[in-house]
Amino acid sequence: MSAPSRLRLGVNIDHVATVRNARGGHLPDPLRAARLAEAAGADGITAHLREDRRHIVDGDIEGLMRELKVPLNFEMAATQEMVDIALRHRPHAACIVPEKREERTTEGGLDAAGQHNHLKPMVARLRDAGIRVSLFIEADPRQLEAAVVLGAPVVELHTGRYCELEGEAKRAELARLQKAAALCARFGLECHAGHGLSYGDVGPVAAIAEVRELNIGHFLIGEAIFVGLEPAIREMRRVMDAARAPGTAA
Ligand code: PXP
Repeated sequence: MSAPSRLRLGVNIDHVATVRNARGGHLPDPLRAARLAEAAGADGITAHLREDRRHIVDGDIEGLMRELKVPLNFEMAATQEMVDIALRHRPHAACIVPEKREERTTEGGLDAAGQHNHLKPMVARLRDAGIRVSLFIEADPRQLEAAVVLGAPVVELHTGRYCELEGEAKRAELARLQKAAALCARFGLECHAGHGLSYGDVGPVAAIAEVRELNIGHFLIGEAIFVGLEPAIREMRRVMDAARAPGTAA
């Protein structure tokens, strides 16, 4: 069996902006966090411009597009406003996520199957602009099929539930993620995963050979308070690589 491909790490910097916005002003600067993440070996930066601008704001996206050397993964709701912003900046990637104003964080995956008619023109416009589109979905075969029909080349599997569960239920959710990742390969979809991942949870997901990229934010920014951002990212990289190494049990 060939060794799994290298797993990319996208660092989500939203919560540097959360801390900044708690007091207004400019500090701490998400752009500085992005530069440090680059220096620590992040393969990309992820930022979610929410409709209510509760963390990342429009100026952050401008700064990231101007200064980043690694690709920006622009997380966005499926709205006309966000499509227009994505088309203006043309980030490397756009990840379409479900967004509810009252939620604390992205709860559940996008209903790619149920929202086909709404999503189809948006995916097409982003793709036509050269932006790599991904859909943030649950590990559900119906949603994977919908992603194929919509013409999205990438899906990101929601790992939030896996991270929250314990024991047998956690193992069952991991099996669901593994099956979905295998199905991605059959369907020709590039498979990413993310949400809620920490050092303790990341290993079994990193070990799934079909997963090509993980996007991780909240835990890393929290850990950075204690050890600094670069060491936190380097440790995450180490844990991911150890889990990915051939012969490592999931
Ligand atoms: N991937 C997607 C699509 C997300 O919406 C988020 C949260 O913004 C993440 C990954 C990162 O999740 P966390 O901050 O819990 O690591």
